[in-house]
Amino acid sequence: MNIRQIFFKNTLRNFCYLIVFDDGTIYCIDPFNHTEVLEYTQAQDVVISAIVNTHDHCDHYSGNAALVETFKCPVYAHMKASIPGKTKNLVDGDVLYENAGWELSAVDTPGHTMSHMCLLLKFNGVPHSLFTGDCFFNAGVGNCHNGGNPESLFDTISTIFSKYPDELLIYPGHDYLKRNLEFTLSIEKHNARAKEFLDKISTLDLNEIFFINNMQTERKINMFLRLDEKEIKENLNLEHSNNKDIFLRLRELRNKW
Ligand SMILES: [Fe+2]
Repeated sequence: MNIRQIFFKNTLRNFCYLIVFDDGTIYCIDPFNHTEVLEYTQAQDVVISAIVNTHDHCDHYSGNAALVETFKCPVYAHMKASIPGKTKNLVDGDVLYENAGWELSAVDTPGHTMSHMCLLLKFNGVPHSLFTGDCFFNAGVGNCHNGGNPESLFDTISTIFSKYPDELLIYPGHDYLKRNLEFTLSIEKHNARAKEFLDKISTLDLNEIFFINNMQTERKINMFLRLDEKEIKENLNLEHSNNKDIFLRLRELRNKW
């Protein structure tokens, strides 16, 4: 199994992922544009087996039509997602692929929109990688401006993401790492790991180099997973508030950041 990350260099900094299984099956997650995907498939002389859209914002499915035209492949998405040409409805727990120890399944993750799926890849029953769409980013979480609900996003992050193992690799739908680290350090000023990470990426070409964090790293740099931290609570003047209120305040502040 191999995961191919495609970065589109668009202003929204979208990622698409190709999960290439050893038997030749290829799942294409969130194709913003078909050109870059076809460059890969033509160079490798391979065929896309299915497209999966994490949610129904057009920067996650605008490459669908040309890829379907080329590969005659099905399009999977949340049962409530409104995506032109969708052929298969997904509900929580649906298994899309299962072979040679690998399993790809859908995880219902409302919040960014109310019809958002993450895709969980397991090997021999152990969570290996999570394709998070716009639910969860490196050092941040998605906004809830277009059909979402921040309280639902809190429930998703606190109930689902909190249980994932440290080793789980995160493949987000956009690269917002730098902005999110800057946001972290605007509130949690003494977060040494976030400072170290921001210093490191500040010297790099962020249109060429990307980081695949695991949950262990995210638990150190992502404030939305660090709601019990004293410094965060103090700087928000929410020392006596519950985790949900802290999450909602962070989301609100990030909206204006
Ligand atoms: Fe989105």
